[in-house]
Amino acid sequence: MSSENLHIPRELLSQEARLLHNAITSLVEELEAVDWYRQRADDTEDDALRAILLHNMREEMEHASMVLEWIRRRNPDFAGHLKTYLFTDTPITETEKAVEAGAAEGGGGQLGRTDLAPTIGSLKGQR
Ligand SMILES: [Fe+2]
Repeated sequence: MSSENLHIPRELLSQEARLLHNAITSLVEELEAVDWYRQRADDTEDDALRAILLHNMREEMEHASMVLEWIRRRNPDFAGHLKTYLFTDTPITETEKAVEAGAAEGGGGQLGRTDLAPTIGSLKGQR
């Protein structure tokens, strides 16, 4: 499998870099497809066609999620950030501030969900 988006010769890439490149390229393509289907659905007057386009859009969301999960399982850096930011209800920028404050205090800059919860709780009402 080749890619037009490689920035250095393929033979110089580690397996990790090559596989991550393939996954990221696929994720980008899936997200672009979501965007394209969504726009086409809005741009059609035909209800049946709109339903198909929205169905296809949701399938692309599934594909994107599958690739993202593969990335999470293979890449600890991505996994740490996803663990910090996904499936939370706190304001996202407040989460980043809490992470950065934790790093400044020697916390390493990445907080797991269980580590973050008490920190974010203390931020409520500070807006
Ligand atoms: Fe897809």
